[in-house]
Amino acid sequence: MDFSIKAFDTKNTIASAKTGCIAVAVFENKKLSPAAKELDHGGEISAALKSGDITGKPGTTLTLRGLAGVGAARVLLVGLGNEESVSEKSFTTAVTATLKVFSTLGATDAIIALPMADVKERDAAWAIRTVLCCAHEAAFRTDGQKSKKDPAPAGVKKVTLALDATAQAKNALAQAQAIANGMDLTKELGNLSANVCTPTYLANTAKKLAKEYKFDVEILDRKQLEALKMGSFLSVTNGSDEPPKFIVLKHMGGKSKDAPVVLVGKGITFDSGGISIKAGAGMDEMKYDMGGAASVLGTFRALGEMNLKLNVIGVIASCENMPSGRATKPGDIVTSMNGLTIEVLNTDAEGRLVLCDALTYVERFNPAAVVDIATLTGACIVALGNHNSGLFTRSDEAHEKLAAELLAAGKQTSDTAWRLPIEEAYNEQLKSNFADLANIGTPGGASVTAACFLENFTRKYTWAHLDIAGTAWKSGGSKGATGRPVPLLTQFLINRV
Ligand code: BES
Ligand code: MN
Ligand code: ZN
Repeated sequence: MDFSIKAFDTKNTIASAKTGCIAVAVFENKKLSPAAKELDHGGEISAALKSGDITGKPGTTLTLRGLAGVGAARVLLVGLGNEESVSEKSFTTAVTATLKVFSTLGATDAIIALPMADVKERDAAWAIRTVLCCAHEAAFRTDGQKSKKDPAPAGVKKVTLALDATAQAKNALAQAQAIANGMDLTKELGNLSANVCTPTYLANTAKKLAKEYKFDVEILDRKQLEALKMGSFLSVTNGSDEPPKFIVLKHMGGKSKDAPVVLVGKGITFDSGGISIKAGAGMDEMKYDMGGAASVLGTFRALGEMNLKLNVIGVIASCENMPSGRATKPGDIVTSMNGLTIEVLNTDAEGRLVLCDALTYVERFNPAAVVDIATLTGACIVALGNHNSGLFTRSDEAHEKLAAELLAAGKQTSDTAWRLPIEEAYNEQLKSNFADLANIGTPGGASVTAACFLENFTRKYTWAHLDIAGTAWKSGGSKGATGRPVPLLTQFLINRV
């Protein structure tokens, strides 16, 4: 679906627009939105509301044809609920319903003339993002690995948003487009089976993005990782026949002397648990244990499309976590890149083992801020469910500021995060009799001890950790990757410019 913005006014009226369909809002109190009023010359819209053909409840729709004095072939009435206070949820429901009707309409172009700036506590930019993300979600196909492809989407292909075509609105549309495209890439990668989406596949995806958007890209192989002494990362890949890949992507859109923001993604393309093997049920879903990496790649796609004027470096530590005769065993002690020794008490706590070396590696960039993104702990799903990503930072002034920025970006894009603690006290739980650190804590607060483990490797810069175990994927009948937290990350970077 292609989107553009057009302003309608008294000269260039919406009633005279030649298009397949115009979507306008009606409310539960039987009132019409401004655009609906303009199309109600013959009184057909008021009559439909009065008769009860449409109630105005969020998501209800009614298609009318051949209205008097209206150039469009159809007018789609869409319920938007309470006129005094349009909620985010009502707006999103109304947009989803509109797009559903569009998808089966006998027309290829349409106008959305819903009140985009009237959602409570939200601006037009939010409404534009919502429309774009809903459209991408509806059009998204998961048939990439099926022999029979789903039929190509029918109906409307070109949508005009009736809005003042200000520079601000056009910018918002471009950003929304970039975020939605970034999410598509993240979803695609998360859904791909692990025998296809290997560390090498992620590296090739990064190379492709680099070529398309002129990023610098560097792929470090096992030999180079050994030379860097990434003993912790390499211990996770021991059991696998797939070569590990360490991916570095650079988008230097800012001034050359400006410190970069660094995004670090966990890229476990399959997490069997290793020797501490996971239970069989649902293990297939551990193909999305590269969701952090996928969100970094998706965010880079968005950055490339916007050509954002900011220096951003993406780092992905990618390998498989598999059992074998060569696999790391519980009790094995490994030496991380920064010299700390780690007792691997549980090989299923592998995310922190790959991330800690990546977090040491990025010191070389003198980062303005580092954000790691990882499907790190099942406990984060227990704590926050699927609604919020877990956000962890230290609590000094610089970190409070970074946390506030990330929380705000999440709120802004409805891709929310919720703060959880990092405190010295939790480090007690990570003590080992035989090494500097254990890779799991004593029972309780597993998401927090995981974050505290990482904290030990991030003392040289300002750092935040996002645990996306609950938000990057939805389980159940329509299981699949969600594209989160690409909106949060992209908006965070946009806000930094
Ligand atoms: N990738 C998992 C975390 C995970 C679990 C993500 C479920 C999404 C859904 C991670 O590597 C892991 O296995 N963590 C363990 C840690 C434990 C051994 C301390 C966990 O959460 O059980
Ligand atoms: Mn694991
Ligand atoms: Zn994992």
